[in-house]
Amino acid sequence: MGIVQTEAWVLYEGPETKGRTEPAELRREVFSFPDITDDELLVEPIYGCWEANMTHAVERKPVDVCRLRNEKRVVIGNAGVVRILKAGSSITSLREGDLCMVFCNGIPDSMGYPERILGYDAPNTIGVLAKRTKLKPEQLIKIPVESRHDPQQWAAFSLRYITAWANWKRAFACWKLQFDDEQPHAPFVCAWGGGVSLAEIMLAQIFGAEAAFISSNPERLKLMKESSIIPIDKRLFKDLSYDEQRYDTDPEFRARYLKSEKIFLELISELTRGRGVSIFVDYIGTPVFRATLKALGSRGVITSAGWKKGMRTSSIRALECMNWHIHVHTHYARYSQGVEAVQFAEENGWLPKLNGRTYKWDEVPDLARDYASGATSSYFPIYEIGQA
Ligand SMILES: NC(=O)c1ccc[n+]([C@@H]2O[C@H](COP(=O)([O-])OP(=O)(O)OC[C@H]3O[C@@H](n4cnc5c(N)ncnc54)[C@H](OP(=O)(O)O)[C@@H]3O)[C@@H](O)[C@H]2O)c1
Repeated sequence: MGIVQTEAWVLYEGPETKGRTEPAELRREVFSFPDITDDELLVEPIYGCWEANMTHAVERKPVDVCRLRNEKRVVIGNAGVVRILKAGSSITSLREGDLCMVFCNGIPDSMGYPERILGYDAPNTIGVLAKRTKLKPEQLIKIPVESRHDPQQWAAFSLRYITAWANWKRAFACWKLQFDDEQPHAPFVCAWGGGVSLAEIMLAQIFGAEAAFISSNPERLKLMKESSIIPIDKRLFKDLSYDEQRYDTDPEFRARYLKSEKIFLELISELTRGRGVSIFVDYIGTPVFRATLKALGSRGVITSAGWKKGMRTSSIRALECMNWHIHVHTHYARYSQGVEAVQFAEENGWLPKLNGRTYKWDEVPDLARDYASGATSSYFPIYEIGQA
């Protein structure tokens, strides 16, 4: 079997330290891998979208993915669009020249739900931060022929929108389950900021929900207004960032937090006419979880697939029971959900409108730094890899 040699931005295993992690620097290097087998495809990545998990990987938090995968160096990157260069002899569904979106379910369980993610924690996978990589047919979804949307939009779609699709469908189904013989009113759906949340709130709106989106960014608040989604300015309750230890020990912190929480809850009560939120989309976690549960109405659903600012949360079980709250947790999607999401997006125009700059291949480390510091103007930062 031959060897494929390519250029990639490579992530190395970190030094062994006790309980402390050092962030990594991506290194531009030659990367080699064995040529494709009969059931694999050689592909040329064209556009990638920078994702939160890539930052988690570079920061080696919460885990060093190289160590987890037992590999000294890996290539990450699990959102993007690729062109097929060569298909293994047993593959009939895809062929040379096809433009596809990466579907990053790296290791599915027996029912097809992802256990490990390609280009992140799934061992021996090569992400799109490489000029060439190899994938299996079930890790690719063909972009509709003559799609009305750009490859960059599909690159942005491939991880955040598919996650939002699977999460929304489950959350909405759970909310409908909360009603026996009564006819449910249109749900009031509210989401904290972030790319997956934006995808999900746009979807909730298409499904007939009254929708609200919280952001501290004036451009995004304007976009929400233009899209008939209620913009909620997070700067009105800027100290809403719960920290249990500080709350218990620092009276000043506690007073500031409670003031912001009160403003937030009053605003939600006013917008929902006292009913509370029906479905709250929360990919932020620890700092907002307490207030999110308080904002949720009776028989409300809190839904998530992420923990951008903290994964440890706690709730008061008695209150959750008395309010009939359902907590939904999901992780990316099954292949059939990905295919469904793409069809729905093409037909309904449910894709992001891209407004930020496209980073060049040479600028990938700048992009990594900009995203980590919050300096990227878009929720969907696109980078170029190959020739469009
Ligand atoms: N399990 C899965 O399948 C899956 C898939 C995709 C993502 N995820 C995870 O989901 C999480 C969110 O990902 P994402 O791509 O949507 O994130 P993102 O686009 O990077 O979200 C960043 C935005 O979140 C908002 N934000 C940050 N801190 C906040 C805080 N303390 N309070 C309120 N809002 C805050 C800000 O919005 P504004 O600037 O507008 O204020 C910020 O710009 C990440 O942890 C990611 O790893 C999981």
